[in-house]
Amino acid sequence: MKVGVARETAPGERRVALVPEALGRLVSAGHEILVEAGAGAGCFLPDEAYAEAGATVVATDELYARAEVVLRVQKPSAEEAARLRSGQILIGLLQPLLDPALMASLAERGVTAVSLDLIPRTLSRAQSMDALSSQANIGGYKAVLLAANAFGRYFPLLTTAAGTAKPANVLILGVGVAGLQAIGTARRLGAVVRAYDVRPETKEQAESLGAQFVTLKTAIDATGAGGYARELTPEERAAQQAELNDVVAAHDVVITTAQVPGRKPPVLVTAAAVAKMKPGSVILDMAASALGGNCELSKPGETIVTENGVTILAPENLPAQMPMSASQFYARNISALLLHMTKDGTVTIDLSDEITGPVTVTHGGQIVAEAVRKLLEPAAAGGTGA
Ligand code: NAI
Repeated sequence: MKVGVARETAPGERRVALVPEALGRLVSAGHEILVEAGAGAGCFLPDEAYAEAGATVVATDELYARAEVVLRVQKPSAEEAARLRSGQILIGLLQPLLDPALMASLAERGVTAVSLDLIPRTLSRAQSMDALSSQANIGGYKAVLLAANAFGRYFPLLTTAAGTAKPANVLILGVGVAGLQAIGTARRLGAVVRAYDVRPETKEQAESLGAQFVTLKTAIDATGAGGYARELTPEERAAQQAELNDVVAAHDVVITTAQVPGRKPPVLVTAAAVAKMKPGSVILDMAASALGGNCELSKPGETIVTENGVTILAPENLPAQMPMSASQFYARNISALLLHMTKDGTVTIDLSDEITGPVTVTHGGQIVAEAVRKLLEPAAAGGTGA
C-alpha cells in the first residue's frame, strides 16, 4: 500500500514518524513509501536520505491525495485533518482521550484513526510498538539533563585543589518508565538519588539502578490494573502530601513523573513543600500539562523562579528536544505496528486482534474505542446526565 510520512507542524515538534533506516522492512512487506518534503528536517534528515532509502519525496497536496496510510507523530491540525479522506488510515500518537472531538470529526470523514497511545503496555508482543515507553524513556533522560543545567551546583562529589563539592541530592517521584530512566541518568551524573512510588514492586527496580527507595510511614499500596497505579482516595492523598513535604524539602533537585492514565496527575509537591526548599533547588515537573501537574506551582511550558529561589521547570515536549533518538525509536514502534497490521501487503483493520483492536479509535465511520465514545456522550459533555 502507499504509506505516507507527514511533516509535523505542531509548534516545537521536531520529530518525524519514519527515519530512512526504517524504510527497508516496510518496502519488503510490500509498501510504497511517500515522504512529505521537509518531513525529516527537524532531526537533520534531508529529503535525499529518504529518496536514497527508496522513498518518493512529494509535496503536501500529493501526500494527502495519494497516501492510503498516513503516518505522523502528533495528531493532525484541523487543517491537516480536513485533508484526510474516507478510507484513509491515520496512525500516530493521537491522544484520543484528550481530543475526542477530533476523533468524532475523523469518524465522520470515514477516516480510520489508529493511536499508538492505546497499545496494551503489558502485552509482551506489543512491547516493540510501545511508543509511550520509548518517548517517556527519552523524556526521563532529558529531564535530568535540563534539571542539572538549571542547578547552580555540581551533581557529583568532586574533590579538587579548590575544595570539595558535595554531591547533589536528587529525588525522583514516580518510578515508571520515565522515572527509571531519570534515576539511571542522575546516578550516571554522580548524584545521590532517592525515589518514591505508590507501587511497591518499584522499590526493587529503583534500587537495582542505584537509588534509595523512600518508604512513607503512611504506606500506600496503590497498584492498579495494567501495570499502572490507581488514583488515591482523598485521605490517602492528604497523608501522602503531608509526609512528602519534608522529604521534598530535604532534596536539591526533584523530578516528578507520576501519572494515572486518563486522570489529573496527583499533586505530590505542594506549595508548602516548595516554600520549605533551599534557595537554588530545582523542580522539574514532567507530568505538567493543561490537566495540571505533580507540582502545585508548575506552569506548563514555562520555567519560573519562586520568591524563595526555587526554579520550577515544566517542559511540555521533552522528546522533541532530542528529535534524532526520539524519531529513531518512534519509527521502530510505528513500523512494528504497521507490519503487525499488514497481511499480504495490505493494512488490515481486524478489530478482534489483541493489538489492532485496542489501538483503533475510528473505523467505518464509527468511533470504535469505547473510552472515547463515552467522553462524547451528552452527560460527559456537560448535559444533565444522572
Ligand atoms: P508510567 O505510567 O510508566 O509511570 C508513572 C508512575 O507514576 C507509575 O510508576 C505510577 O505508579 C506512579 N504514580 C502514580 N500515582 C502516584 C502517586 N500518587 N505517588 C507516587 N507515584 C505515583 O508513566 P511514564 O511513561 O513513565 O510517564 C511519566 C509521566 O511523564 C507521564 O505524565 C507522561 O505523560 C510524562 N511525560 C512527559 C514528557 C514531557 O515532555 N513533559 C515526555 C514523556 C512523558
